[in-house]
Amino acid sequence: MTAVGIDAIEIWTGNLKLDLPGTFAPEKGEDPEKYTKGLGLNASSFPDSYEDIVTMGANAAHRLMERKGLEPDDIGRIDVATESAFDNSKPVSTYVAGCLEQVYDGDFHHANKGERKFACIAGTQSLDDAYNWIRAGRNRGRGALVIATDTALYARGDAGEATQGAGAVAMYISEDPDLVELSTDQGYGSADETDFLKPNQQFPSVDGKRSVQVYLARMREALEDYESVAGDVHPDDFAFAPFHTPFPGMVRKAAMLAYRHVTRDTAIEEELAKEIGRQPRAEAFDDKESFHDAVREYMDALKETDRYQEWYAETIDPTLTLSREVGNWYTGSVHIARVSAMKYALQNGQDLAGETMLVGSYGSGAQAEIHAETVQDTWEKEIEALNVDAQLEARYDLSWEDYEEIHDVHNHDMDVDVEEFTTPEAEFVFDGWGRMGERK
Ligand code: CAA
Repeated sequence: MTAVGIDAIEIWTGNLKLDLPGTFAPEKGEDPEKYTKGLGLNASSFPDSYEDIVTMGANAAHRLMERKGLEPDDIGRIDVATESAFDNSKPVSTYVAGCLEQVYDGDFHHANKGERKFACIAGTQSLDDAYNWIRAGRNRGRGALVIATDTALYARGDAGEATQGAGAVAMYISEDPDLVELSTDQGYGSADETDFLKPNQQFPSVDGKRSVQVYLARMREALEDYESVAGDVHPDDFAFAPFHTPFPGMVRKAAMLAYRHVTRDTAIEEELAKEIGRQPRAEAFDDKESFHDAVREYMDALKETDRYQEWYAETIDPTLTLSREVGNWYTGSVHIARVSAMKYALQNGQDLAGETMLVGSYGSGAQAEIHAETVQDTWEKEIEALNVDAQLEARYDLSWEDYEEIHDVHNHDMDVDVEEFTTPEAEFVFDGWGRMGERK
């Protein structure tokens, strides 16, 4: 069976940056370490006044097409995953295609275009759709363009304001991919939840504390479902485990839960038992509360062990590097976690070819998906070509007053006009509703 997977990835960050410990925390009267140590964040990316989900998505896609020498005729499908859509009828992919058609001779009239929505998991669902389309033999030799693009902003004063971000990830899905092959095995955890909603409103209504619990519950179900098809998972099976990262502190919790789950009934558990005692099992407790207390105690002890810390440092921590600097990108978040890990491997001379990564995607509302990916021999060239570090470095550092202005600009309920903080360079820009995505 021919391999199908991600051939190439490109990233486009919003052109502005909000320093969380330096600018945000003092204004909120909070300890900067709540951000750096608690949430695990240094900064958030923000869109300038001429940027939005269309321009960021089109810019990421354009970089990808240029680098891979792709023409519109090579692309048979364009899906945009977003939870920041502004049009309830036309999919955002039509706007993106309109931008790209300005700079290519060909057009995308032949391409099937759509928009995927299920909060942050929609980017991975679009990958799955592209994979299935190719596997079904309906692609006629073409690949699929998947774009995950969001402006993840919360209302001023909402607890979520600390975890904002904005950016896009474009991925080309094809046969014989250069980056990773997607596995056929997947596991899901899915339930009707109301922890995070955007019913016809610009900023989410979110019960932050509950959303953390829902994330963990669905992720555990997805892991169990994944094991029911792929067999038992062992912590050393995977080079990296990129998870959806609304903020790195969330992944700290998810990683521990996953580790506790996959070490059950293994030699690792035997060894850990000598150090911290055997894992608590629900059936051994009369009531839920004392079971939960025992689990909490076990987890507290687990995270102090050398074995866990080494696994975390090698498998999880490298996935968080970009997220620390850009915040939550919703649909793009798990996809920048994958890139972070691969960049880390490149920088440290780690040979990833043939290695497997366990990818955990999540969307509020709520659904989690676990799947595996195998790194291809040509991965290094793909990761070397990324210029994300230069993009992050070039962002304009917002003062508090700048932040207040730009937040208002991106609140569709307000009619605000501010000067641009940065100057667009050969990129698509939003220049009013009549001139969407014009290239400057
Ligand atoms: N030094 C070190 N650590 C500190 C600290 C300090 N001075 N002060 C606080 N902390 C720690 C806290 O102990 C806490 O860590 P633990 O959870 O490990 O205990 C962490 O910093 C955060 O502190 P708080 O819980 O007090 O923070 P908060 O109540 O202000 O908000 C939040 C946290 C609820 C996650 C909020 O940012 C939020 O609502 N975010 C949006 C929702 C979200 O991202 N949910 C994630 C799951 S849903 C999802 O994944 C989908 C999605 O993308 C939105």
